[in-house]
Amino acid sequence: MEIFRQKIAELLLEETGLDLEDIKENVEVPPDRNLGDFAFPCFKLAKIKKKNPAQIASEIVENIEAGEYFSAIEATGPYINFTCNLEKLNQDTLERIYTQGRGYGKSSEGDGKTVVIDFSSPNIAKPFGFGHLRSTVIGNSLANVYETLGYNVERINHLGDWGTQFGNLIAAYLKWGNEQELEKDPIEYLYDLYVKFHEEMEEDPSLKDEGREWFRKLEEGDETAEKLWEWFREMSLKDFERIYRKLGVKFDSNKGEAFYNDKLEDTIETIKDSGIATYSQGALIVDLNEENLPPCLLKKQDGATLYITRDLTAAFYRYENYQFDKALYVVGADQELHFNQMFNVLKKMGCDWAENMEHVPFGLIRFQDRKMSTRKGNMVYLEDVLEKAKQLALETIREKNPELDNQEDIAEMVGVGAVIFGDLSNDRVKEVNFDWDKILDFNGETAPYLQYTHARICSVLKKADITPEYDKDIVKHLQSDYEKNVIQLLAGFTDALKRTRDANKPHILARYLLDLGREFNRFYNHCPILNETEEVKQARLILIDAVRQVLANGLGIMGIKAPEAM
Ligand code: ARG
Repeated sequence: MEIFRQKIAELLLEETGLDLEDIKENVEVPPDRNLGDFAFPCFKLAKIKKKNPAQIASEIVENIEAGEYFSAIEATGPYINFTCNLEKLNQDTLERIYTQGRGYGKSSEGDGKTVVIDFSSPNIAKPFGFGHLRSTVIGNSLANVYETLGYNVERINHLGDWGTQFGNLIAAYLKWGNEQELEKDPIEYLYDLYVKFHEEMEEDPSLKDEGREWFRKLEEGDETAEKLWEWFREMSLKDFERIYRKLGVKFDSNKGEAFYNDKLEDTIETIKDSGIATYSQGALIVDLNEENLPPCLLKKQDGATLYITRDLTAAFYRYENYQFDKALYVVGADQELHFNQMFNVLKKMGCDWAENMEHVPFGLIRFQDRKMSTRKGNMVYLEDVLEKAKQLALETIREKNPELDNQEDIAEMVGVGAVIFGDLSNDRVKEVNFDWDKILDFNGETAPYLQYTHARICSVLKKADITPEYDKDIVKHLQSDYEKNVIQLLAGFTDALKRTRDANKPHILARYLLDLGREFNRFYNHCPILNETEEVKQARLILIDAVRQVLANGLGIMGIKAPEAM
């Protein structure tokens, strides 16, 4: 109903002297809908103009015309009440969907603003674990939401590509590694080496020193160490790329922790210069007692820097490079303290832009599936989960639609979609119990349900054998409540995106799409389409084509494909 708020703001602009956004924010929904669909309270204005609010309300009402968007505008005490002309809204909505197509839902609200989103950020030289699904899909869908709302979005994969474990891995490779073996399945092989190194270390503690020595060499830029590390990194990226492609995820930057190596000293100097750092038992810290937080450790006694030192450096780097209006970190709730400390150090230094940084936390995802074996080290590979989802989707498709072409491709869209939506449909702060039956239920609150609805619409359109064209006289035939309810939901798409952005919660968009799917199916079960008079048939085809478009757009924003048949 964004459009009405906009129209109200336009109507009141001159009379109130307030600005557009200010008016929009103050528009309310009256508790008693008999009074109207929207209300504008005049208290604030009364203060400014030093007049009685009821008097202001009635004066304004006398000076404005209802126009085509409102059937009535009345003053009731200190409120101006607006009753909407839904007929007009319905027409406008369908017309906009028809003309904007894939662009429907877009807004220019974010024009000129930059949002930096740090998400996914797995650790290299290891398989991509199921645990990194949440950050990846939540971050990706938020990035798409911001982009749709007009923001310039920078997607950053802050790879975990630095740390003592790489010293161990180099030592292990030089001891037991074999290039040919490694080339066959690099990540699996490196992971084997990593596990072996840890096992052998129990027996032979001198390995620990060897690993440490190699990490020291790596830090000093030793050629052998550096070459190997670069190679590990490259192979990992290639491996991750395969999964990102499946999930439809792209990044603007893969600058990971290692990128900041030569910038850490600058960070430490800057923090020292600001006067907030102190030495405590030889370690450099920032005391955060006033903030009720444990001290932030910047540099250990032995000179080693920490995860947070890198994150602080990355924050400076990003602010300098992107001048962001917002910086989001889509990282598990278990890192809350880390981000709290980091933001507070920046604020203490006087960086006011730290107010625009936000940790977007999420709860654990639990995987209980006795049928699928975990691999070494109890690890669940995301790729295995996606593959199994595809196989399960394929079984259902073969059963439901044995004649279907491209069954494999469609099963992939459905399986991957089910996994993504199974995550995103939950309020991110809650824990998720991953459940195959639940996420793949074609009648449940799932991606397959929405995809199936989309495919069903495509098949009706195909059967009708005409391309619906918007016509304002034709859509007047959409008179039942079933139809009107669907259109009202369609009209609220951009609103749903904005609410998703405001809370940084993709389940708001998921909820919206499920509501749309339900409302569409209610309509579909009550209103025949093809066996109707020509006008009604055409009107309903326009309506379902609009639903198809919005489902496809919404799923696309979540990173989910919408097949035309399934
Ligand atoms: N690599 C880290 C992990 O797997 C996540 C990094 C999140 N991003 C950040 N800027 N700290 O837990």
